[in-house]
Amino acid sequence: MDLSLVEKAATLLIKSRYAVALTGAGISTESGIPDFRSPGGIWERYDPSVFYYQRFLAEPAFVWKTIIEMGNDTGFSLFTAEPNKGHEALATLEDMGILKSVITQNIDNLHQKAGSRRVIEFHGNMLYVKCIKCARKYTYEEVLDRLDMDNLPPRCECGGVLKPDAVFFGEAIPQMAMTEAFSEANMCDLMLVVGTSAQVEPAASLPSMAKGQRSMLSGMADLFFPKEKAYVIEINKESTSLTDVVSDFLIKGAAGEVLSRIVERIKELKGI
Ligand code: APR
Repeated sequence: MDLSLVEKAATLLIKSRYAVALTGAGISTESGIPDFRSPGGIWERYDPSVFYYQRFLAEPAFVWKTIIEMGNDTGFSLFTAEPNKGHEALATLEDMGILKSVITQNIDNLHQKAGSRRVIEFHGNMLYVKCIKCARKYTYEEVLDRLDMDNLPPRCECGGVLKPDAVFFGEAIPQMAMTEAFSEANMCDLMLVVGTSAQVEPAASLPSMAKGQRSMLSGMADLFFPKEKAYVIEINKESTSLTDVVSDFLIKGAAGEVLSRIVERIKELKGI
């Protein structure tokens, strides 16, 4: 880990007016949850085409069966996973008044478990299940408890099909999360981009929105009200498509290590 970049990030965070974080699966690998696209990741073990919304609508029983099998044989559980130093560091930055929100693509609830209060769940939350007819929500656990494998998919009391409340490919981002995330990206003067390969839209465009780079997503607004350019600081084990293009710098390393070093340094600089 390049400590001069840790120092730079700590100083920029202290000076920032409105810092936000965008996180991806890489922040949870240190909690034992595999990411999607690294070697050995979820998409190497499972066929992503199962997780298209249209496929779910066409074959809900098959998709449920696959999800349950995944839960049984991946060797990790979203229900028992614990937050790691990375999640905790972001919660501490929020407590310090530095970080204003975490926009996460993760569906594992670990930011909330670590104590982050303002979490924008861009891709939903796998610990919940939602009726596609009446939108009633249940916890995933209660649905699992009464699951009948010979009678899939599970159904709502209204008779509608239940779907895990994670956003599938081709499914709309929850409106509220989308609005809030775009507004945070527009408002921030610093964005930490942690553990994401930035390959899935529209989340992948949030860092360039923060940078004030024109995109289809920003529409016409920035022609009239140009956005101040935020610092975009990437924390990742690898470089990504954002590196050297959108981000100002990349701190290469494990998210938990890097983020906790940044928080330690901020505490030293502030004398707390
Ligand atoms: N520390 C830092 N970075 C890490 C770590 C770690 N401990 N472990 C993995 N990474 C990095 C990888 O180098 C990679 O760049 O995290 C990134 C994970 O990328 P993806 O697996 O593509 O995950 P993500 O970007 O969150 O995927 C976005 O794709 O299929 C979907 O809906 C799913 O929300 C997900 C979306």
